[in-house]
Amino acid sequence: MVRLTQVPNLLTPVDCPTMQAQNADIAVIYDSALACKAVGSALSGYFNIRELPLELYAGGGMPEAALSIFCANMGDKETVGLIKKAIDICEGETLFVLPTHNSDGIAQLRQHSKADYFLLPLEEEEFREATKSTLNRPVEKAWSILDPAKRKALKSAVVSFEKCFDQVANGAPIPLEDITSSCQHIREAAAMGGLDDWIDALDDHHDYSFRHSMFVCGSLTYFAHAMGIRGAELDGLTLGGLLHDIGKCRIPLEILDKPGKLDAREWDAMKLHPVYSRDILCDENDLNADIVAMAAYHHEKLDGTGYPDGLSGAQINDHIRLTAIADVYSALIDKRAYKGSMSSEAALDIMATMKDELDMDLVREFRSFTLDKG
Ligand SMILES: [Fe+2]
Ligand SMILES: [Fe+2]
Repeated sequence: MVRLTQVPNLLTPVDCPTMQAQNADIAVIYDSALACKAVGSALSGYFNIRELPLELYAGGGMPEAALSIFCANMGDKETVGLIKKAIDICEGETLFVLPTHNSDGIAQLRQHSKADYFLLPLEEEEFREATKSTLNRPVEKAWSILDPAKRKALKSAVVSFEKCFDQVANGAPIPLEDITSSCQHIREAAAMGGLDDWIDALDDHHDYSFRHSMFVCGSLTYFAHAMGIRGAELDGLTLGGLLHDIGKCRIPLEILDKPGKLDAREWDAMKLHPVYSRDILCDENDLNADIVAMAAYHHEKLDGTGYPDGLSGAQINDHIRLTAIADVYSALIDKRAYKGSMSSEAALDIMATMKDELDMDLVREFRSFTLDKG
């Protein structure tokens, strides 16, 4: 068992530049330095993590964290005792990483916890996926209390979006049948109203790409439905909203999921995503040009200072203008590791100043829709 000779300052980042969040998403609680190091290697740069020695926490309050990962040598009786105490007081989800296999220790662990465990050496990508799905489990479980239309839409979309992102990242076509079926459920949810509830249900989801795409898709669909848009035009806005950032599947994950702000080189790489989106969507014969344009040009600005093509004024059609508004709004109200979330009103106040970039008539309509009806 690793004994610490010095108690670290727990609010001071030690190794990882991403550990500055006061409320870490993940607490890595260790007595195995080896397992802790492996977890840090797999997760640093993807999640906010904080490393804490087991012996300090087993007897007292556990840190506030959505997920606690115990890195423990279950062959050590003293460690097993501390783990049992820690499990009893731990709130939130748990995972275990064990440096070595020990049947007795695992059997004892099983008496106290049903959480998944991993052995060293860690397969890092598999471990990141398990971490993400463990973090998302309570968020998705909470959807059960939503109205049936929203619940069905979210449950359908989380599966089809992940499938879509994975398939396209691996060079396969978009699973259009699954995605269009999810879009139908999203329109049915939008017909019931309640954009605020939609945003709240997604707010704590830990898959940023899914959360953002669903914010944008929801904002577009609920708003368009309230404006009286129906039929093929509404279908296109929903599908275009869900797929507007599909090109991000070609952005390296260490950039896409980086908890901190992007540096200039990373930002240049990120700005290629509308080009990738255009390429991916142009390969789909069944998609109309409006949907491709929403994905390709939602970062264009009316004054011509946007990207990728520097379009301006009338070159930017209404569907692109709506997507740009939904995209900016979604980014502003979203919380990231480097910024807190913002109220709808504060976000809309900022958007009201973006006269050179956004269509102000549509911003005003979106504002009254969002604040009046949500
Ligand atoms: Fe984008
Ligand atoms: Fe976006």
